[in-house]
Amino acid sequence: MIRPCEETDFDAIYEIVNDAAQAYKGVIPPDRWHEPYMPREELRHEIDAGVVFWGYEEDGELIGVMGIQPVHDVTLIRHAYVRTARRNQGVGGKLLAHLRTLTDRPILIGTWADARWAIRFYEKHGFRLVTPEEKVRLLKKYWSIPERQVETSVVLAGPRWSEGHPGRRRA
Ligand SMILES: CC(C)(COP(=O)(O)OP(=O)(O)OC[C@H]1O[C@@H](n2cnc3c(N)ncnc32)[C@H](O)[C@@H]1OP(=O)(O)O)[C@@H](O)C(=O)NCCC(=O)NCCS
Repeated sequence: MIRPCEETDFDAIYEIVNDAAQAYKGVIPPDRWHEPYMPREELRHEIDAGVVFWGYEEDGELIGVMGIQPVHDVTLIRHAYVRTARRNQGVGGKLLAHLRTLTDRPILIGTWADARWAIRFYEKHGFRLVTPEEKVRLLKKYWSIPERQVETSVVLAGPRWSEGHPGRRRA
């Protein structure tokens, strides 16, 4: 079952994010890694900033979460995490498909350049990497992240964005 998360899910979201983010350890630049990957205060800040988390629940337990955040004229998919033990079973795909039904706006997704599996996951769902120049512009316009994270991230855009910006995506 896919459902919007509530305040009572805060601890479960925190747990899932930090369990799933272990995938980044030793992969993303060491100066970007810290433990826990997302401290409680940062998760709280993200929710307060308008990230709405949806969860995939099975037998009363959240298995994966994914956030959606409207910013200006686009919708961002933020913080996609599936419990390590439940990966590659279609949970992330179902969450992404559901979130896509919630908006008519172009969708943008940012992730670590080194997270090859995440890039492949989004590409499989029709998202395309934008050019390095476009990436910098988009991250500065739609995200609030430090300069160093801009350098080490990529942006993927959904079909609706690509239609409106022909020629701007990476071949
Ligand atoms: C990225 C992430 C959210 C994807 O979630 P997921 O539940 O593993 O995704 P899915 O199972 O839908 O798809 C992943 C793979 O499983 C395969 N798969 C999907 N359904 C399947 C099923 N029923 N049985 C077996 N494999 C399946 C998909 O084909 C896909 O394969 P690919 O790697 O060759 O593309 C998850 O891997 C994760 O939490 N990773 C760590 C954190 C991260 O990188 N987050 C992204 C931040 S933006």
